Formats: sequence, C-alpha cells, structure tokens
Amino acid sequence: MPDGRDKRKPQTRAGPRHVAIIMDGNGRWAQARGRPRLFGHHAGARRVREIVTACPDLGVKYLTIFAFSTENWRRTQTEVAGLMNLFRRYIVKEMQEFVKNDVRVRFIGDRVRLDAKLRALMDETEAVTAHCSGTNLTVAVNYGGRDEVARATRRLAQDVAAGRLKPENVDEETLPRYLDTCVLPDPDLVIRTSGEARISNFLLWQSAYAEYEFIDTLWPDFTSEIFTDLIQGYGTRERRYGAVPA
Ligand code: IPE
Ligand code: IPE
Ligand code: MG
Repeated sequence: MPDGRDKRKPQTRAGPRHVAIIMDGNGRWAQARGRPRLFGHHAGARRVREIVTACPDLGVKYLTIFAFSTENWRRTQTEVAGLMNLFRRYIVKEMQEFVKNDVRVRFIGDRVRLDAKLRALMDETEAVTAHCSGTNLTVAVNYGGRDEVARATRRLAQDVAAGRLKPENVDEETLPRYLDTCVLPDPDLVIRTSGEARISNFLLWQSAYAEYEFIDTLWPDFTSEIFTDLIQGYGTRERRYGAVPA
C-alpha cells in the first residue's frame, strides 16, 4: 500500500500516535500577572519538557509543537528578538536532556530567515539526537502551512523542469514527499490551547483528517494531567475518513 494512504489508515490503538500542539496563550498568561509577554514565553518553554516526557507512557510516538509562525514576525522587535534568544538558550539547555530521554528532535519551517547561530544549533540538535528512537519531537520554527506548501511546490516544479518528475505523475502521494514533514506520519490529534478555535496556518495539508481539541487552558498552565485526559478522550472517538461506519 502506498505510504500516503497507509498514513490515513484508522488506528486500532488506545491513543493517537502523532499529536501536534499549537502552544498558545503565553502573552495572556503573562498579562494576567502584570508581567511582560516574554515572561509568559519563558513559562511556556518550561512546560515543554513535561509534555515531551509524558509521551512514552501515553503511546505518543510523535509530538509536533508550534513555536513560531511565519506570521509571528509581525510582533514587536523586542518580542521577536526575545523569542529567538529564548529558542537559542532553550536548545543549549535541553540538548543533552533530549539525548538522555531518547528524544529525536527535528525542526520544520523555513530556516533561511533565522539567524546563523540559531540555525547551527538546530542542525546540531538534529545531528546529536539522530540516533534516538524514543519520542520524535518536531519543533515548528518560522513555520507556516501555506509557506511550506509553496516551498514544496517550488521544489516539485524544479524537478519537473529538470525532467526528474512527469506532471501527469503528480498526485496526492507526490506532494507530501516535498513537505518539511516528509518523514512524519500525519497528525492524529491537534490540540490548541488558550481558547482560540483556529489553526493559524499550522500543518494545513497534514491535518486534513486530524481530530481537533481546542481547550481554554493557557499554554503555561498546560500540565501532563490535562495532556493525558485529552489523549484518553481521543481513544473514544470514531474516525471515519469519509466512509460509513462498519
Ligand atoms: C503563543 O503565545 C506563543 C507564540 C505565538 C510564540 P502567544 O504569544 O500567542 O500568546 P497570546 O495568544 O498573545 O496570549
Ligand atoms: C499560533 O499562535 C502560532 C504559535 C503558537 C507559534 P498565534 O497567537 O500566533 O496565532 P493567532 O495570531 O492568534 O492566529
Ligand atoms: Mg497567540
């Protein structure tokens, strides 16, 4: 069976294999405490380890987290610079922790616009954790679903122009091979914190048949207990993929 179809096969498991999270609400969390937005981003970053380390017991093999979108450059220079600084420090601090916990880290998104130091740290983290086979953590930085599809289409068009691919052979199995997520299964469950019921350009192609959970909790308050409840709730849902239930 072709890989792309296999990805949509209904799961006969208790929980989702791939969970993606839109980690939203850091700014409001800080604001509620009368603190600057960056205070919320730091609190949010501290939550990530707890959620990553909860994955093995929950059967979550892939965790993908949205850290910075292609639209987040529209924020103030202070916030953007603070976030980039936080990513660098976070990676340095967590790198050995990832190895210790057998977490393989990957980054998706367009790296071109990120500074050289951060890009080097991202490459290093991917290399240092490449042998890890426990949880697959994917961090979306300067990621936008439309941007990803546009970049994928550009590379696909280059292959067509170079004669490596025939236009008549382009189908829904072909395009995902050009996406940043080409080695990942599609997400089974997408969670968004902070009460917003939108996907804000996250994993547009990949989430076509994902289940969604929009919860009011702000990301810095998102605990492994809340995560566990959502994973268990997922197990009771029926995914139909357009078919009539058997
Ligand atoms: C999510 O929290 C983190 C990023 C987008 C980087 P926000 O910063 O969007 O927090 P709110 O939505 O303003 O509360
Ligand atoms: C989505 O959150 C992006 C991340 C969580 C990194 P935003 O806060 O940027 O999304 P909008 O602006 O509310 O749609
Ligand atoms: Mg937000």
